[in-house]
Amino acid sequence: MSVPNESDPAASLRAEAIDAMVAEALAAIAAADSTSALKDARLAHAGDRSPLALANRAIGAIPPADRKQAGQLLGAARGRVQKALAARTAEVEAAELTRVLAEEAVDVTLPVELHPAGAIHPITGLIDLMSDVFVGMGWEIAEGPELESEWLNFDALNIGADHPSRGETDTLFVEPVSNHLVMRTHTSPVQIRSLLERELPVYVVCPGKVYRADEYDATHLPVFHQIEGLAVDKGISMAHLRGTLDHFAQAMFGAGIRTRMRPHYFPFTEPSAEVDLQCFVCRGESVGNPDRPCRTCKSEGWIEWGGCGVVNPRVLRACGVDPDVYSGFAFGMGIDRTLMFRNNASDLRDFVEGDIRFSRMLKGVAR
Ligand code: PHE
Repeated sequence: MSVPNESDPAASLRAEAIDAMVAEALAAIAAADSTSALKDARLAHAGDRSPLALANRAIGAIPPADRKQAGQLLGAARGRVQKALAARTAEVEAAELTRVLAEEAVDVTLPVELHPAGAIHPITGLIDLMSDVFVGMGWEIAEGPELESEWLNFDALNIGADHPSRGETDTLFVEPVSNHLVMRTHTSPVQIRSLLERELPVYVVCPGKVYRADEYDATHLPVFHQIEGLAVDKGISMAHLRGTLDHFAQAMFGAGIRTRMRPHYFPFTEPSAEVDLQCFVCRGESVGNPDRPCRTCKSEGWIEWGGCGVVNPRVLRACGVDPDVYSGFAFGMGIDRTLMFRNNASDLRDFVEGDIRFSRMLKGVAR
């Protein structure tokens, strides 16, 4: 780089000296191949301390007569450098943009990893299906809390203090025990809640979780699901119960499927019965027919489905309903159990382990 001669200011203003400065500047600018290299070249050849800037300052030190020509020479020289800088800057920026576009290009046609979609749990699907059957008949869906008062879970349902189901081996009492709160052992307290809260007549189903101090194995879960039904109206009889259960069974298992009742005992219904479902796979043809065994009903022809009965007048009275005017029926089915035999799910643990493959496998089956 040619440095202006301090002792001879005119030296740096001679045409050859200026040409040399320009040539050097243009070479440096042409060689700069990045924005930062250009910045360095600009500083060195067009900055305040560049040879051309210093030469410009030397103008004041030469005889006034020479100043005009020197000024013109320098002005033209600095103009060439500025032009070269501008042109090179445009080239370098364009090249850098092209490079960035190429390097950071996104191929929008590449397959992307989609968020895996979830699946509706088969229990939820079956609850929806069951609820739809009743909503279709004009019934309502009722809800109740899973943490329930002992009175609603037992006393109001005519379950005496000495009833075995109250024992700690069956019921999960919640501390402090003096609060008399339990994890509901069945959905039947919703019968009481519905009667206390609603205007008569009442037609409700309540699907939901229930809790018992049970083992966790292939056929038991400490948390499972029931669907409770309650109808209270004038003139309700066991015949209405039968008709309702038959319709429910056919909607769930196919036209023509029958139900049967076997006498049983529940404190909150009188008379009470257990409901069996005609086997929807063999329709009873496997009974006494070793050539055609049926796995679903174990060749018994019937599958145990739930409990039912005519609402005990004591329950109606506990809810302020006059049993001389109103009567009702109630039923309760295990939803997990229903899913087991309806959809061939043999291990209850699959229901709670949260493996999405289980939900996908039964997708649509429960719908
Ligand atoms: N709550 C009973 C049970 O859990 C089922 C049931 C409901 C029976 C309604 C009769 C009427 O076993």
